[in-house]
Amino acid sequence: MIPFGDPSASYQAHKSEIDQAIKRVLDSGRYILGTEVDMFENEFASFHGNDFHAVGVANGTDAIALCLSGLGLGTGDEVITPSHTAVATVAGIEQAGCKPIFADIDPNTRCISPDSIKENLGDNTQAIMPVHIYGQPAEMQRILDIANVHNLAVIEDCSQAHGAEIDGQKVGTFADISAYSCYPTKNLGGTGDGGVILCRSKEFAEKIKSLRQYGWNAERESIMSGFNSRLDELQAAILRVKLQHLADDNAKRRAIALSYNEAFKDLPITSPVLAKTELHAMHLYVIECDQRNELMEYLRNNQIGASLHYPLAVHQHNAYAHRILGGYNLPITDLFYQKNLTLPMYPELSNDALEHVISMVKKWFREKN
Ligand SMILES: Cc1ncc(COP(=O)(O)O)c(C=O)c1O
Repeated sequence: MIPFGDPSASYQAHKSEIDQAIKRVLDSGRYILGTEVDMFENEFASFHGNDFHAVGVANGTDAIALCLSGLGLGTGDEVITPSHTAVATVAGIEQAGCKPIFADIDPNTRCISPDSIKENLGDNTQAIMPVHIYGQPAEMQRILDIANVHNLAVIEDCSQAHGAEIDGQKVGTFADISAYSCYPTKNLGGTGDGGVILCRSKEFAEKIKSLRQYGWNAERESIMSGFNSRLDELQAAILRVKLQHLADDNAKRRAIALSYNEAFKDLPITSPVLAKTELHAMHLYVIECDQRNELMEYLRNNQIGASLHYPLAVHQHNAYAHRILGGYNLPITDLFYQKNLTLPMYPELSNDALEHVISMVKKWFREKN
């Protein structure tokens, strides 16, 4: 079976460096919040430029919740976000006590639509949380303009877009605060849970460092109510290795995406757009087509792990349906969820595997007509 993503291939590709990193940590005797976390935080911040601070946390959902809590947002505060995202985005918003409000997506970027953000603004709106879905940067300039006019915080959910860029500027550096997941399947993924918060303010970073560990100060006195959301040393050490290969791995992903796009250009398929002014992180390669269930079944029967990201938009899940504002009127999101289909995408995908996926997709369209 050719999977749609393959974290074990990533381990094999960087095995000797990762094995060394693991041994270093095991030998050190320090397993939580030590040198590796400090170094990962410094390296992750520097990867984004000179003016940033990074704080490692337990996972991406916590990263989102901590960003909001760190801003002092909570009960009654509304956060506008897309319903076309991992449930985790919305779970993180609710974990902080805030209220998610769903905006629709733009059909080209599949990211939150700035026009729909405007339609969903209300008296209690405090923040906008765009998601760079599948590695495609959201329209950050338009989103920041709306936020400036209405005095709102912006938190970028970069969980699927480590290393993506708009006009040479990395996502995560447009807003003052950004959240990342380092779940194993992510472009920057560990071998367990992990997350990072990136921010410009040293004070905010210090506050998050306190919040992630019971609200402690240096003397281990809790000076605010906090959480336990620490990144462990093993994950940090592995993420340090992966960070060094991130740009190369993302370039390999984009090369695969270009091959898919070229091969599918005459088929009735909508492929992801790779804009010249952007670096797409190509976390997931998602096409849109009619009869996608039939195509998915055909591919699966032919050893290709076609999948859905996601089977449901967040507002279509039982836990959220009819509860979250904005969720009643998301026509572009609803249409997208009838057509989305994820094809295999990871840096180590071999040429043979890529050719096999392409030929089976083409064959299905030939046989169907
Ligand atoms: C868009 C998005 N936001 C947030 C998260 C949350 O990450 P985690 O699973 O690390 O809590 C994920 C990962 O699943 C994600 O894809």
